Amino acid sequence: PGTSLPIAERENQLANLASVVAGCTKCTLLAKCRTQTVFGEGNPAARFAFFGEAPGADEDRLGRPFIGRAGQLLDKMVQACKLQREDIYLLNTVKCRPPENRNPDPTELANCREYFEQQLQILRPEYIVCLGAVSAHSLLKTKLSIGRLRQRFHQYHESKVLVIYHPAYLLRNPDAKKAAWADLQMLMRDAGLA
Ligand code: URA
Repeated sequence: PGTSLPIAERENQLANLASVVAGCTKCTLLAKCRTQTVFGEGNPAARFAFFGEAPGADEDRLGRPFIGRAGQLLDKMVQACKLQREDIYLLNTVKCRPPENRNPDPTELANCREYFEQQLQILRPEYIVCLGAVSAHSLLKTKLSIGRLRQRFHQYHESKVLVIYHPAYLLRNPDAKKAAWADLQMLMRDAGLA
Protein backbone atom coordinates (compact mmCIF):
# COMPACT_ATOMS: atom_id res chain seq x y z
CA PRO A 1 0.00 0.00 0.00
CA GLY A 2 0.99 3.63 -0.47
CA THR A 3 4.08 4.60 -2.41
CA SER A 4 6.08 1.43 -2.06
CA LEU A 5 9.80 1.27 -2.68
CA PRO A 6 11.29 -1.07 -5.31
CA ILE A 7 12.48 -4.32 -3.68
CA ALA A 8 16.19 -3.64 -4.26
CA GLU A 9 15.81 -0.26 -2.58
CA ARG A 10 14.00 -1.83 0.38
CA GLU A 11 16.82 -4.37 0.75
CA ASN A 12 19.33 -1.58 0.62
CA GLN A 13 17.57 0.52 3.23
CA LEU A 14 17.00 -2.47 5.51
CA ALA A 15 20.69 -3.37 5.31
CA ASN A 16 21.68 0.20 6.18
CA LEU A 17 19.28 0.26 9.11
CA ALA A 18 20.51 -3.15 10.30
CA SER A 19 24.07 -1.87 10.47
CA VAL A 20 22.96 1.17 12.49
CA VAL A 21 21.10 -1.16 14.88
CA ALA A 22 24.14 -3.46 15.16
CA GLY A 23 26.16 -0.57 16.53
CA CYS A 24 23.46 0.81 18.83
CA THR A 25 24.48 1.50 22.44
CA LYS A 26 21.47 3.58 23.55
CA CYS A 27 20.60 1.02 26.23
CA THR A 28 23.89 0.65 28.08
CA LEU A 29 22.85 -2.54 29.84
CA LEU A 30 21.41 -4.33 26.79
CA ALA A 31 24.38 -3.33 24.64
CA LYS A 32 26.70 -4.81 27.25
CA CYS A 33 24.71 -8.03 27.82
CA ARG A 34 23.84 -8.97 24.24
CA THR A 35 25.86 -11.34 22.09
CA GLN A 36 24.55 -9.45 19.07
CA THR A 37 21.51 -7.51 17.93
CA VAL A 38 18.66 -9.35 16.19
CA PHE A 39 17.41 -7.02 13.47
CA GLY A 40 14.76 -9.19 11.84
CA GLU A 41 14.61 -10.99 8.51
CA GLY A 42 12.36 -12.21 5.78
CA ASN A 43 10.83 -11.29 2.49
CA PRO A 44 11.25 -7.53 1.91
CA ALA A 45 8.13 -7.63 -0.29
CA ALA A 46 6.05 -9.56 2.28
CA ARG A 47 2.35 -8.80 2.65
CA PHE A 48 2.63 -9.97 6.27
CA ALA A 49 4.98 -8.80 9.00
CA PHE A 50 4.96 -10.78 12.26
CA PHE A 51 5.97 -8.51 15.09
CA GLY A 52 7.42 -10.10 18.23
CA GLU A 53 8.76 -8.87 21.53
CA ALA A 54 12.51 -9.29 21.89
CA PRO A 55 15.17 -11.91 21.15
CA GLY A 56 15.54 -14.84 23.56
CA ALA A 57 18.70 -16.82 24.28
CA ASP A 58 18.71 -18.75 20.97
CA GLU A 59 18.05 -15.63 18.92
CA ASP A 60 20.77 -13.71 20.76
CA ARG A 61 23.25 -16.50 20.05
CA LEU A 62 22.48 -16.83 16.33
CA GLY A 63 21.34 -13.32 15.46
CA ARG A 64 18.05 -14.46 13.92
CA PRO A 65 14.46 -13.91 15.12
CA PHE A 66 12.17 -16.70 16.33
CA ILE A 67 14.43 -19.71 16.06
CA GLY A 68 13.82 -21.18 19.54
CA ARG A 69 10.78 -23.08 20.84
CA ALA A 70 8.39 -20.15 20.40
CA GLY A 71 9.73 -19.75 16.87
CA GLN A 72 8.99 -23.38 16.07
CA LEU A 73 5.39 -22.90 17.16
CA LEU A 74 5.23 -19.67 15.17
CA ASP A 75 6.38 -21.61 12.08
CA LYS A 76 3.45 -23.99 12.57
CA MET A 77 1.04 -21.08 12.97
CA VAL A 78 2.39 -19.46 9.80
CA GLN A 79 2.09 -22.75 7.92
CA ALA A 80 -1.49 -23.13 9.15
CA CYS A 81 -2.15 -19.86 7.29
CA LYS A 82 -0.79 -21.52 4.12
CA LEU A 83 2.29 -19.34 4.34
CA GLN A 84 5.99 -20.10 4.69
CA ARG A 85 8.70 -18.20 6.50
CA GLU A 86 9.96 -17.08 3.06
CA ASP A 87 6.62 -15.33 2.45
CA ILE A 88 6.71 -13.20 5.58
CA TYR A 89 8.93 -10.75 7.42
CA LEU A 90 9.79 -11.27 11.11
CA LEU A 91 10.83 -8.48 13.42
CA ASN A 92 10.86 -7.64 17.12
CA THR A 93 9.94 -4.58 19.14
CA VAL A 94 13.34 -4.58 20.84
CA LYS A 95 16.45 -5.70 18.99
CA CYS A 96 18.54 -6.86 21.97
CA ARG A 97 17.89 -9.67 24.40
CA PRO A 98 16.90 -8.37 27.85
CA PRO A 99 18.77 -10.21 30.64
CA GLU A 100 17.01 -13.44 31.72
CA ASN A 101 14.34 -12.68 29.08
CA ARG A 102 12.67 -10.12 31.31
CA ASN A 103 10.23 -7.75 29.59
CA PRO A 104 11.88 -4.73 27.98
CA ASP A 105 11.51 -1.71 30.28
CA PRO A 106 9.87 1.57 29.15
CA THR A 107 13.19 3.27 28.40
CA GLU A 108 14.37 0.31 26.31
CA LEU A 109 11.07 0.28 24.42
CA ALA A 110 11.34 4.01 23.77
CA ASN A 111 14.98 3.71 22.67
CA CYS A 112 14.21 0.96 20.16
CA ARG A 113 11.01 2.45 18.81
CA GLU A 114 12.62 4.40 15.95
CA TYR A 115 14.12 1.16 14.61
CA PHE A 116 10.91 -0.82 14.22
CA GLU A 117 9.12 2.30 12.96
CA GLN A 118 11.73 2.77 10.23
CA GLN A 119 11.73 -0.94 9.44
CA LEU A 120 7.95 -0.96 8.98
CA GLN A 121 8.12 2.25 6.98
CA ILE A 122 10.53 0.56 4.54
CA LEU A 123 8.45 -2.63 4.36
CA ARG A 124 4.95 -1.13 4.39
CA PRO A 125 3.33 -4.55 4.83
CA GLU A 126 -0.35 -4.97 4.16
CA TYR A 127 -0.74 -6.74 7.53
CA ILE A 128 1.16 -6.55 10.81
CA VAL A 129 0.49 -9.41 13.22
CA CYS A 130 1.41 -8.35 16.75
CA LEU A 131 2.53 -11.32 18.80
CA GLY A 132 1.65 -10.60 22.41
CA ALA A 133 1.07 -7.52 24.52
CA VAL A 134 4.52 -5.92 24.37
CA SER A 135 4.49 -5.46 20.59
CA ALA A 136 0.77 -4.55 20.49
CA HIS A 137 1.12 -1.95 23.22
CA SER A 138 4.16 -0.43 21.62
CA LEU A 139 2.78 -0.34 18.07
CA LEU A 140 -0.74 0.78 18.90
CA LYS A 141 0.14 2.97 21.90
CA THR A 142 -2.52 1.35 24.03
CA LYS A 143 -2.60 -0.57 27.31
CA LEU A 144 -5.62 -2.72 26.55
CA SER A 145 -5.26 -6.45 27.19
CA ILE A 146 -4.89 -8.96 24.37
CA GLY A 147 -8.39 -10.13 25.22
CA ARG A 148 -9.64 -6.64 24.36
CA LEU A 149 -7.41 -6.13 21.33
CA ARG A 150 -7.84 -9.45 19.51
CA GLN A 151 -10.52 -10.37 16.97
CA ARG A 152 -10.52 -7.03 15.19
CA PHE A 153 -8.29 -5.08 12.85
CA HIS A 154 -6.43 -2.01 14.03
CA GLN A 155 -4.52 0.43 11.85
CA TYR A 156 -0.85 1.43 11.81
CA HIS A 157 -0.19 3.89 8.96
CA GLU A 158 -1.44 1.93 5.90
CA SER A 159 -1.11 -1.50 7.52
CA LYS A 160 -3.93 -3.51 9.04
CA VAL A 161 -2.92 -4.78 12.47
CA LEU A 162 -4.09 -7.96 14.13
CA VAL A 163 -3.16 -8.80 17.72
CA ILE A 164 -2.77 -12.44 18.72
CA TYR A 165 -1.33 -14.34 21.68
CA HIS A 166 2.44 -14.73 21.65
CA PRO A 167 3.56 -18.27 20.77
CA ALA A 168 5.59 -18.41 24.02
CA TYR A 169 2.33 -17.72 25.90
CA LEU A 170 0.60 -20.46 23.89
CA LEU A 171 3.32 -22.92 24.90
CA ARG A 172 2.53 -22.18 28.54
CA ASN A 173 -1.26 -21.90 28.04
CA PRO A 174 -2.32 -24.38 25.34
CA ASP A 175 -5.97 -23.58 26.08
CA ALA A 176 -5.47 -20.24 24.35
CA LYS A 177 -4.52 -21.94 21.06
CA LYS A 178 -8.16 -22.05 20.01
CA ALA A 179 -8.41 -18.27 20.27
CA ALA A 180 -5.17 -17.82 18.34
CA TRP A 181 -6.43 -20.09 15.60
CA ALA A 182 -9.68 -18.11 15.35
CA ASP A 183 -7.60 -14.94 14.99
CA LEU A 184 -5.41 -16.47 12.28
CA GLN A 185 -8.51 -17.59 10.40
CA MET A 186 -9.75 -14.01 10.52
CA LEU A 187 -6.45 -12.93 8.99
CA MET A 188 -6.65 -15.59 6.28
CA ARG A 189 -10.19 -14.63 5.34
CA ASP A 190 -9.38 -10.94 5.17
CA ALA A 191 -6.21 -11.55 3.14
CA GLY A 192 -7.88 -13.96 0.73
CA LEU A 193 -5.86 -16.98 1.89
CA ALA A 194 -8.91 -18.98 3.01
N1 URA B 1 10.22 -14.26 21.18
C1 URA B 1 10.08 -13.10 20.52
O1 URA B 1 9.21 -12.30 20.81
N2 URA B 1 10.94 -12.84 19.54
C2 URA B 1 11.91 -13.68 19.17
O2 URA B 1 12.63 -13.38 18.22
C3 URA B 1 12.02 -14.90 19.87
C4 URA B 1 11.17 -15.17 20.88
